[in-house]
Amino acid sequence: MSEATPILHMLDPRKHVSPFDVNMAADAGYKVIVPYTNVEVADVTPLIQDAIFSRPPNYGVRTGFFMGGKDALMALDMIDAAKKAMVPPFECSVFADPAGSFTTAAAMVACVERQLKQKFNRDWKGVKVAVFGATGVVGFASSIIAALEGANVQLVAHRGVDRVIKNAAISKERFGVDLEAVNGETADQKRDIIANAEVIFAAAAAGVQVVSAEHKALAKNLIAIADVNAVPPAGVEGLDLFMDGAPLPGCNAVGVGALAIGDIKYKTESGLFKQMLSSDKPLALDFRHAYAMAKQLTGIA
Ligand SMILES: NC(=O)c1ccc[n+]([C@@H]2O[C@H](COP(=O)([O-])OP(=O)(O)OC[C@H]3O[C@@H](n4cnc5c(N)ncnc54)[C@H](OP(=O)(O)O)[C@@H]3O)[C@@H](O)[C@H]2O)c1
Repeated sequence: MSEATPILHMLDPRKHVSPFDVNMAADAGYKVIVPYTNVEVADVTPLIQDAIFSRPPNYGVRTGFFMGGKDALMALDMIDAAKKAMVPPFECSVFADPAGSFTTAAAMVACVERQLKQKFNRDWKGVKVAVFGATGVVGFASSIIAALEGANVQLVAHRGVDRVIKNAAISKERFGVDLEAVNGETADQKRDIIANAEVIFAAAAAGVQVVSAEHKALAKNLIAIADVNAVPPAGVEGLDLFMDGAPLPGCNAVGVGALAIGDIKYKTESGLFKQMLSSDKPLALDFRHAYAMAKQLTGIA
């Protein structure tokens, strides 16, 4: 491993970088961490090239860039711009995890997958998944990861189906996955979606309950349900924060709670920072690598 000081440049389109991510990077081993705010995709090439030419090529693996923000597609565009900006052998590593969404989504999908495998002898192929909070970064990333694994994923709109139709079109174009945009605006539409789902991802905003006791009673096909919201009330009524595959009272499904997912999320993000630090070649990490790491951590890889 190179003896060069590990340096992380953290890029964010917003006015702050995330203190959570700064702490994670420091605890994983980065010694110098520099925040850049109000960053646009067009800024990525000059920033990368400014960094890579300042160190000899064998120091490149000790230079990292982190793409934050709150926009999954923008973070992926920043990764793409960074990869194109490399001038081999002058290169560095890059990692995107906007608002923690890639590692959180990866953790949620892997935690539920462990339950599917262990309790139902199933993988994601053909599983009907309904995603609440589908226009959010966590919902969006988890939809794509599950669909890439063969699940039949519904993006549920809670206001205006147009935005989930747009997300489905973007996902098809960019990742080749077929996601179904469904309208869950009315109480009847929402009941129908829940009654047909085998798996539910509750990924709505903090403190928003999307699945009630009444919904659970209707969910006759449901085998597993995950809730990433740690702020009361629970995103799924009665789903304990630490639940990790226990039966969820009021239905036939098992539940996976926000802190069970958070534990794997935290280890996934830390693991990816450590992977960048220990690699002998430059890496470019996104939600796919986060999912691979989360599968290892949950013991299903
Ligand atoms: N457990 C963990 O480790 C962990 C880590 C990170 C985040 N989280 C949690 O993950 C969740 C999603 O985070 P995010 O960053 O993806 O949030 P986000 O980008 O703000 O998205 C929130 C989503 O919730 C939807 N929503 C808002 N109000 C709703 C309502 N009344 N009914 C149904 N849907 C509603 C939003 O829809 P509109 O677009 O229509 O507003 C959007 O799709 C949050 O609860 C967050 O706290 C957990």
